[in-house]
Amino acid sequence: HAAEAQRTDLMTITRHVLNEQGRHPESRGDFTILLSHIVLGCKFVASAVNKAGLAKLIGLAGDTNGEEQKKLDVLSNEVFVKALVSSGRTCVLVSEENEEAIFVDAPLRGKYCVCFDPLDGSSNIDCGVSIGTIFGIYMIKDKDNVTLDDVLQPGTDMLAAGYCMYGSSCTLVLSTGNGVNGFTLDPSLGEFILTHPNIKIPNRGKIYSVNEGNAKNWDAPTAKFVEKCKFPQDGSPSKSLRYIGSMVADVHRTLLYGGIFLYPADQKSPNGKLRVLYEVFPMSFLMEQAGGQAFTGKQRALELVPRKIHDRSPIFLGSYDDVEDIKALYASES
Ligand code: AHG
Ligand code: MN
Ligand code: MN
Ligand code: MN
Repeated sequence: HAAEAQRTDLMTITRHVLNEQGRHPESRGDFTILLSHIVLGCKFVASAVNKAGLAKLIGLAGDTNGEEQKKLDVLSNEVFVKALVSSGRTCVLVSEENEEAIFVDAPLRGKYCVCFDPLDGSSNIDCGVSIGTIFGIYMIKDKDNVTLDDVLQPGTDMLAAGYCMYGSSCTLVLSTGNGVNGFTLDPSLGEFILTHPNIKIPNRGKIYSVNEGNAKNWDAPTAKFVEKCKFPQDGSPSKSLRYIGSMVADVHRTLLYGGIFLYPADQKSPNGKLRVLYEVFPMSFLMEQAGGQAFTGKQRALELVPRKIHDRSPIFLGSYDDVEDIKALYASES
């Protein structure tokens, strides 16, 4: 009976968020409407990714049959920008694909700011490896006087964050500040259904995830940490290396299996590679909500205050105890 009841009692992402909104009696469903537009964007990208190989959406942008071919990350960006603006719930958007922030015109202006990476892991598009979308949501104090300062805020001000991973299945992982929940797209319904309620990351993991190709440029604490993963001094088994090269996929595995994901600073890029507003903050928010933590090498990642909208930061995130180890190494070095 329970299984039968479960099957017919569909907990869609919209219903789940409405339930959570119930905790905020003052809300008028604006957040739910905003989220439904983000979900629409994810469904579009999911279908485009699945057809990418067939619809020649991959490879270099270039003209074919007269119509300008759009690369998947450009197409995805356009879809998310249009979906977010048309939701009537946003006043400023920051996208990895737009050099400048997008300020929404008055008639459609709402109270939220969304920072997003429409297509994360672009280097993996052409070979069919999992890619994703990452987003973070802020409330803007005065939507009629929005400036960049409203956006250049610490991640601790973030209201909600999530990602959608386009892999063997399409999974959307979301937190609105009350823990983390995972939803899987049922293509026959076109609905995201709750499949991973209340995700908690294991306190320690057996996996480390880093691009070892950058090892020659790492600073001492990072080098020491990776060395200890490979040659543990306390007789514990060495860790496994898993690196997909799409942050969404590497973070999703870390969230479910435990372990640590790191994109450290190195001599070539002293601030690392990942962008604060739409990669580091959303993933750090999710990790903390799932009982893990996120560290920049200097401070708690969410306490960073970006100076520019595409600022980068080194990031070490994942299982609480694993991140404690890297924090200790940085503390002993300083
Ligand atoms: P994007 O495709 O949005 O530019 O992001 C790519 C990022 C991130 O997804 C991944 O963790 C990282 O690039 C991989 O970088 P390396 O190839 O340098 O390891
Ligand atoms: Mn990215
Ligand atoms: Mn991207
Ligand atoms: Mn990119």
